[in-house]
Amino acid sequence: MSETETSNTSSSSIPLNIGIIGFGPFAQFLAKTMIKQGHFLFATSRSDHSQLCSQLGVQFYKDMNPFFYSNNYDVILISTSILSFSQVLSSIPFHLLRKPTLFVDVLSVKEYPRQLLLQVLPEEADVLCTHPMFGPESGKNGWEGLAFMYEKVQIRDEDICSRFLQIFRSEGCRMVEMPCEEHDKQAARSQFLTHTIGRVLAQMDIKSTSMDTKGFETLVYLKNDVIKNSFDLYSGLFVHNRFAEQELKNLELALETVKQNLLNKMDETT
Ligand SMILES: NC(=O)c1ccc[n+]([C@@H]2O[C@H](COP(=O)([O-])OP(=O)(O)OC[C@H]3O[C@@H](n4cnc5c(N)ncnc54)[C@H](OP(=O)(O)O)[C@@H]3O)[C@@H](O)[C@H]2O)c1
Repeated sequence: MSETETSNTSSSSIPLNIGIIGFGPFAQFLAKTMIKQGHFLFATSRSDHSQLCSQLGVQFYKDMNPFFYSNNYDVILISTSILSFSQVLSSIPFHLLRKPTLFVDVLSVKEYPRQLLLQVLPEEADVLCTHPMFGPESGKNGWEGLAFMYEKVQIRDEDICSRFLQIFRSEGCRMVEMPCEEHDKQAARSQFLTHTIGRVLAQMDIKSTSMDTKGFETLVYLKNDVIKNSFDLYSGLFVHNRFAEQELKNLELALETVKQNLLNKMDETT
């Protein structure tokens, strides 16, 4: 079952204390809007992002321990790469949490973090699995109409959860509530396929010509857009989505069929 809704109505406007683990490009992008909305942000990451954080108004911790014991978090947002998620999760000192907390992930695959979070989080933690279906490029002019997928996996504190979702709802996101499994099925057909075609075009080194058609311009745009993302992100879409391999096979088969149809036509006409 999936439910799609669009709404701009506000619920609570009380600011949240949000701790971010993994302060890469996507977390930085999200942080700007969260700060604009008045939330209090704290971050920790493998690399030192303290300079950028001080510019943004985010308190940065180089170490996980002080990050955890120094603040009372409403939400812990995990935004590490898909490939490092398990390792990062296993290094979290959960015993330092000062109160039951909502854990949110934003990984572009969903069954995998759902399963791991349920395995390792303390029993009293709430779990919200999400995938904002946009990034720094597609969301650079605002989030109006962009899809935000989520599954409320284990929620006891509805108020905190709804205040977190409100961050996206109030920006005009199209809120899509969907089970993680269904997300992965659909994402393998859409996002993984898009990234794969973009990377195939990059492998072929396609470039604009002096006589581009609109169709070819679209291909060049796709290639340029897709390769802005890290290879870690792309390979994570494959390694941790059990539906992706089949889509890769479907693509190979489809290419083979298209080629065969052409060869048959050539035989017919010669
Ligand atoms: N980019 C998008 O448009 C987009 C959209 C929706 C969802 N997402 C999801 O958001 C998450 C972050 O994406 P991203 O675009 O920021 O880039 P990414 O390459 O997927 O992840 C970068 C982050 O992962 C951390 N990281 C990588 N390897 C690590 C390791 N071995 N140990 C600890 N930390 C490690 C990096 O830490 P340091 O920077 O500290 O080195 C950085 O915080 C991903 O799960 C992605 O699927 C991305």
